[in-house]
Amino acid sequence: MVKNRGSFSRIGFILAAAGSAVGLGNLWKFPYITWHNNGGAFVLIYLISVVVIGWPIMIAEILIGRNAQNSPVPAFEKLGGKKWSFVGWLGVITGLVILGYYSVIAGWTITSFTSCLKWSISGYIIQPEDSFKHFMGNGSLQLLLSFIFIAITAVIIWKGVNKGIERTTRILMPVLFLIIIYLVIMVLFLPARVETFRFLFRPNFADLPSTGILEAVGHAFFTLSLGMGAMITYGSYMDRHESIQRNAAMVVFLDTFIALCACIIMYTIIFSAPSIKESVSGSTIGMLFITLPNLLYTQIPFGAAVAPAFYLLVGFAALSSTISLLEVIVSLLIDKLNFNRHKATLIGAMAAYVVSIFSALSLGAVSGFSDFSIFGPGKEGVLSTLDHLAANWMLPVGGFFITIFVGWFLDKKISEAELGLFKTNGISKIIYTIFRFLIKYLAPLAILAVIIAVILGKDFS
Ligand code: TRP
Repeated sequence: MVKNRGSFSRIGFILAAAGSAVGLGNLWKFPYITWHNNGGAFVLIYLISVVVIGWPIMIAEILIGRNAQNSPVPAFEKLGGKKWSFVGWLGVITGLVILGYYSVIAGWTITSFTSCLKWSISGYIIQPEDSFKHFMGNGSLQLLLSFIFIAITAVIIWKGVNKGIERTTRILMPVLFLIIIYLVIMVLFLPARVETFRFLFRPNFADLPSTGILEAVGHAFFTLSLGMGAMITYGSYMDRHESIQRNAAMVVFLDTFIALCACIIMYTIIFSAPSIKESVSGSTIGMLFITLPNLLYTQIPFGAAVAPAFYLLVGFAALSSTISLLEVIVSLLIDKLNFNRHKATLIGAMAAYVVSIFSALSLGAVSGFSDFSIFGPGKEGVLSTLDHLAANWMLPVGGFFITIFVGWFLDKKISEAELGLFKTNGISKIIYTIFRFLIKYLAPLAILAVIIAVILGKDFS
């Protein structure tokens, strides 16, 4: 058996993995894509994807990492031979693409935090409708914010993940969780909650746009940090005695729960105020940053006290996600090119920043970047294009190969050993059988079907 390099404490894996999973995907992206895809049917497909595709792939990634005790590229080489290393490389490129736009949105949490601080001290003024548009179009500010965010991520990676991030997330994630629950309870007093629940949980497939299914599957990958090797990397630090399937289920549950809470909070506000609904339809991208501050200062008890803390924590949630993205790139540079950690961090962060320059300037600042379009209406601009490319194409493709690898090529004894079948009991056997079925047949077929349907469906909008 390989030796245990596990450097996460027992609870450390859950915190780091949940920290990676819970991020802007839950609080910023899920509410706005669900809005655009008209709720209900989209949410249902998303929930099915999370269970049927997300959970088994998370298990598969963790077991690859923990067994190989290595970062993705060498892990695939070790377990599958050189021909499989491309899955690891694809993951690294995907990570770069994601970091290159994620850091721009993450940077917004910095200004939201400072604005809220100012409002909490000197009083809230309703923001003019186009103020957020001006903010997005301010190229130098966008460049600065994403720079700050990547720099903070790099400092933590530079120091090694354990002491810094594990210790901070241990305190901050539970606080974020409590604030979110508080906000959910508060909005449940508003009558518009009825409309929110109808919108979210009453599926009507006629409302689902044709590419909504791909978007739901893609988002399941994105929000769970799957398909690019982040969980392989974290799995390699996981304690040998921890149950992979249980930890994976916990991360999936937490992540989904928080995403749904974010929708409940934001939609209830939107449905409560028809005027907000108008402006939201124009700029759903800013729901977390426009709609929510408004609510916090005008409708929620103690909102002024909660608001700055909330955006600080959203920033931390984003940070624990960018850390996992950069760590994949850095660990590759260390393992494959023999860089030391410091050099690898500098190069990785610089590469990510170069990508983020294009995203930062594509929100109105430079028209060539803002109008850039591959995927058609609604996805204009470098930022949206990269998001669509990574989440809806690169992650599902990466995930597809991971299912094929673990389902069909990896020695069955390895999965059995990693999933604890050596201490067999009835339940773990049943769960293992379900896992095998999902990873071998259902997950890869579902991903493939969706991808083929979209390719044949000619319409990318
Ligand atoms: N899951 C994170 C979020 O929802 C983003 C993220 C972090 C990610 N690491 C990843 C996405 C790896 C895909 C792959 O915000």
